[in-house]
Amino acid sequence: MAIPSKEYYNENHKDKKSRPETRGKSSVPADVKVKPEKRTVAHRHPYLSGNFYPVFEETVGEDGIECEVVGVIPESLRGSQYIRTGPNSLRIPEETVAHHFFDGEGMLHGVYFPPSIEGEDETGPIRARYMNRYVRSDSFQKANKYGNVMLSVGLMMNGGRSLINILKQAAVSILRSVIFRVTNIGNGNTGLAFIGERLLALHEAGVPIEMAVPSLATVGEFYFEKEGQKRGKKFLPNQEASTAHPKYDPNTGETVFFSWRLLAPFAYYSVIAADGLRTIWEEPIPGFTRPTMMHDFAITPTYSIILNLNYTLDPIKHYSKVKTLISFDETKPARFGIIPRHFNSKRDKVLWFETRSCHMFHTANSWDEKDKDGNVVAVYMTASRSERFVSYINMWEAKGEGEPFGGGKTPEELRRQYVIPGDGDYANQDPDGTYLSLFRFDLKTMETRVTTLSTISSEFPMINWDWFMRPDLRYIYAAKMDIVPGTGMKSGGILKVDIRAVMEKQQQMLKDGGLKNLGGDGRWEIGSESLLQVEKESHRMHLFGGSYGGNEALFVPNLPRADGKALEEDEGHLLVYVYDESQIENGLVANPDRQVTELWIFDAKKIGQEHQPLAKVKIPRRVPYGFHGLHVTRKQIELNLHHLNRRSVPV
Ligand SMILES: [Fe+2]
Repeated sequence: MAIPSKEYYNENHKDKKSRPETRGKSSVPADVKVKPEKRTVAHRHPYLSGNFYPVFEETVGEDGIECEVVGVIPESLRGSQYIRTGPNSLRIPEETVAHHFFDGEGMLHGVYFPPSIEGEDETGPIRARYMNRYVRSDSFQKANKYGNVMLSVGLMMNGGRSLINILKQAAVSILRSVIFRVTNIGNGNTGLAFIGERLLALHEAGVPIEMAVPSLATVGEFYFEKEGQKRGKKFLPNQEASTAHPKYDPNTGETVFFSWRLLAPFAYYSVIAADGLRTIWEEPIPGFTRPTMMHDFAITPTYSIILNLNYTLDPIKHYSKVKTLISFDETKPARFGIIPRHFNSKRDKVLWFETRSCHMFHTANSWDEKDKDGNVVAVYMTASRSERFVSYINMWEAKGEGEPFGGGKTPEELRRQYVIPGDGDYANQDPDGTYLSLFRFDLKTMETRVTTLSTISSEFPMINWDWFMRPDLRYIYAAKMDIVPGTGMKSGGILKVDIRAVMEKQQQMLKDGGLKNLGGDGRWEIGSESLLQVEKESHRMHLFGGSYGGNEALFVPNLPRADGKALEEDEGHLLVYVYDESQIENGLVANPDRQVTELWIFDAKKIGQEHQPLAKVKIPRRVPYGFHGLHVTRKQIELNLHHLNRRSVPV
């Protein structure tokens, strides 16, 4: 394939003219044995009904489907691609079989913005083409051939089954994965990263899968080199895993990640060189006594922060206490391990900080605080904090025909009234609320301070990654989370949080002696009243309205200015797939052949109900709700195509 320049696009466009039958089509791919399930009654699992139900078709042809564009697509997107991954089960389990939001093979959904089309130069309006592909991982191949072979997350987090039943289902899954030789449980359904010259589809329990852009074809498993040695498969399928949230340092070009493992020492920390190929540091992280699930972490220019939130795999202990194989132990404090960037387990100690037990999926910005001599005296981190592993994610299966589904809030929790966050009264906040919070770890006193930044529950915190790790970063854009009992995790809008406004208020209250510290244990809160006031004055929110639902909104910075002046932090756009749920009737998609999903593009400076998206890309397909997205720049697409051409990889 050539570089996706104007010539490339024109060539392909011509092709399509001569083969009109391939335009605007999608179908079940030839190598997928599983045929779409024609349901007449909706599946009762919240993550297998409505717009969580998977799609089985892929777009035909390597340049996707031309989409109608309403409005003007910004220049920063010309020649680039927006891609989002998510779980998309090949096989639909019975309602009495465990299933979880995190289960399902990965599928990538992309919108490619060609540089130009035939007969136009690069000043013409920008077009948009949609394409979607399964991540053809090892577990995908096996599920396609033999049926589900993976141990369901729903089974391991199930809190309503007898041990015998769980062990029976677990034994069948493990046996099947051994018989069918599943060597990688990484299915790429969680996150995306462009490292060096490649796009990687990530899943925290397995090996990254290399994907091609813009075609979204699968290239294969990817292993970082170590000391010139190529690496490969290990006996246990998660021994070469990577977090789904590696961190790219825009100053050094390094990529930092960690992985949790099934065997001791249970957690590893790695740094990848700027070439995106070589592991320059790989060290075990001391302090873990059993497999511990960790989804995200944080880095500053100097330190990395490992989040041990006590989500552990300890089947015997957990089952005897809480009836699950994996369990979040809320009786233990949350632990934050701070290590230098180039951590050496023989030389350096992990500095462990503790707070009241909490759960966090995602961090946003993190930075160093320096004294006047330039020494780092504290480390800051922003993250979405909740009191527990939120129950609207944790729903599994019905015990029997017609019986209610397990998981979600308890009837007693549904009746309760909860307090507004901001007073540090965490025990009386909605335990399913995920509130943006600021953590400060003092390296001298070992004190931890926690401050709630917003009273509105949100997740998928997003920043301008060009400003990552800067102490003056001001804005976090998060997906407002609608917590509706019995439904899945989806967003009703975009929240723009001004973290500096909260910090300035805090400083002022500190001076005036009015800072609340309810628990006396580092709850450095400004009080719900003050927080609501700051929210009103400085935070912004746009609700999608109607019956629209969405997920993470991705920030894409503007192109550099012609006059050479630096861009402001929020000079850029937010991209989010939204789906109008009026296309669903009783949990089923009403007209499968006439589905529309829209990619809404907002000016990040203008978030608020008074502002509409600058552009809406109307995709004539259903894009199920999913997880994380990535913007692959025009330059990165060119790099990737050169790289694949060099290796003669057919994409
Ligand atoms: Fe994530």
